[in-house]
Amino acid sequence: MKVSTGIKNLDSIMGGGFLERSFNLVYGGGGTGKTLFTLNFLLKGAEEGKHVIYVTLEESWDDITRKLPQGMKDRLEKVKDRFHYLDFGSMRPVLGREVLKSDVLLEAITSSIVVHNISLAGLDGIAPISLYYENEKKIRSVIFDISQSLKSYGVTTIFTSEEINGVSRYGVEEYVSDSVIRLIYTGRFRRLQILKTRGSDFVGGLHGFEISTDGLRVYPRVLFSEGKHEIKEESLGIPKLDNMLGVIYSGDVTLLSGPPGTGKYLFGVQFIKSSCAHGKKGVYISFEENSAKIKKRLQDMGENLKNCRVIYIDALEMDMYRLLWVIRDRLKDADRVVFHGINVLSKRDEYPDFVHSLLNYTRRNGIGSMVIYTIPGIIGTNTIGDENVVYMSDNIIRVLFAEINGELKKVLVIIKTHSPTHERGLVEYRLGKRGVIIVGKIEELEGIMSGTPSKQMEIRKRVEKFFK
Ligand SMILES: Nc1ncnc2c1ncn2[C@@H]1O[C@H](COP(=O)(O)OP(=O)(O)O)[C@@H](O)[C@H]1O
Ligand SMILES: [Mg+2]
Repeated sequence: MKVSTGIKNLDSIMGGGFLERSFNLVYGGGGTGKTLFTLNFLLKGAEEGKHVIYVTLEESWDDITRKLPQGMKDRLEKVKDRFHYLDFGSMRPVLGREVLKSDVLLEAITSSIVVHNISLAGLDGIAPISLYYENEKKIRSVIFDISQSLKSYGVTTIFTSEEINGVSRYGVEEYVSDSVIRLIYTGRFRRLQILKTRGSDFVGGLHGFEISTDGLRVYPRVLFSEGKHEIKEESLGIPKLDNMLGVIYSGDVTLLSGPPGTGKYLFGVQFIKSSCAHGKKGVYISFEENSAKIKKRLQDMGENLKNCRVIYIDALEMDMYRLLWVIRDRLKDADRVVFHGINVLSKRDEYPDFVHSLLNYTRRNGIGSMVIYTIPGIIGTNTIGDENVVYMSDNIIRVLFAEINGELKKVLVIIKTHSPTHERGLVEYRLGKRGVIIVGKIEELEGIMSGTPSKQMEIRKRVEKFFK
């Protein structure tokens, strides 16, 4: 049997939660959320009808409740009949530090457990207990005694400790703990790491962690897929382009990259339109502020597009792991999605994780995605995007400008698809009122990828003919 941590997404990345009758460590620097984590765990238990006890060893109960976010205060008020506490933080100055001797402490806790029929406990801040004991071995045995005693009463416990140089304060708490969770504040975002769980596997690495007024939330660094989908043949919404690609499948990731001004968004608009015009849900997510233009273009196309969603996300200040879960919510029931301007996020540390998790999610759930990637520069260049998106893409299309007969034309080249017989030549396209117009293959010119093509090939052919 598992006991919920009180944080929904946390249970799912640690095998369902804490073991019943277990002793669990939460450690981290000051202000990382240890106290709120403990209280959140107990509040959830009390809301489910359990009797719980919070034991504060450092701070006084008054101080803690005064600082509590309003939403958590309200929650506490509703369950106060089942929420018990022992305030050693206030007793210590009055009764002297003797009150924190482990046998005195244990006596107080266990008698409360019996009296109130407690099933969950929180011991917040164990530092004061260890003031009595001269060495690590002794501290370890004291913590061990406490853990055994609480377990023998059937109680599931969280205890907290400070972090020093990356490990919990005494470096011994981990040994007696059934699970270990570390909380981190990077200076910008909060992170949570699971270091150990007994009796189940867990998802390693740093996960997003948020404190909000009504409680805590974890944003795992990976999205869980919702199940298998049947692979079908699909379309990009531009029939001529589909033919040139050969074949595309549901759940494919299609990368479309190129410089600004090449009308990449119009490919995106057509891609989702071909889904939402048929009663399915298509979502256009832009990380660049161009959603008005995109909406207008969809309207101009004039069909019944009530299932099309255009969303602008200002992601620059957002925790990328939170963003991952925000996007997941937006993709509920979606069939296709466009991610426009994902490159604005490419400098963030979590970007590789983000791209991998997001595109794995869409692929596994059969949501076709088009990743629109803006590449600086106008003419030529041989880049197609960063290694993360390139690696995750099934189809890659590069658009560019080329000067042909003194005119700047838009061309595309198909770099990669599932089909070995895809079009390999350069294809001119135009932007029309109702979408992208594929003009056709450009023959007899070479060097277009450099941006300044020449008719070398044609001249060579004529010369060869002449000498024959
Ligand atoms: N309503 C709130 N919204 C967001 N953050 C909050 C809120 N209330 C408190 N915090 C943050 O919670 C942290 C304090 O958490 P706490 O559990 O007391 O930390 P610890 O016990 O690890 O020292 C502080 O960083 C504070 O900024
Ligand atoms: Mg605290």
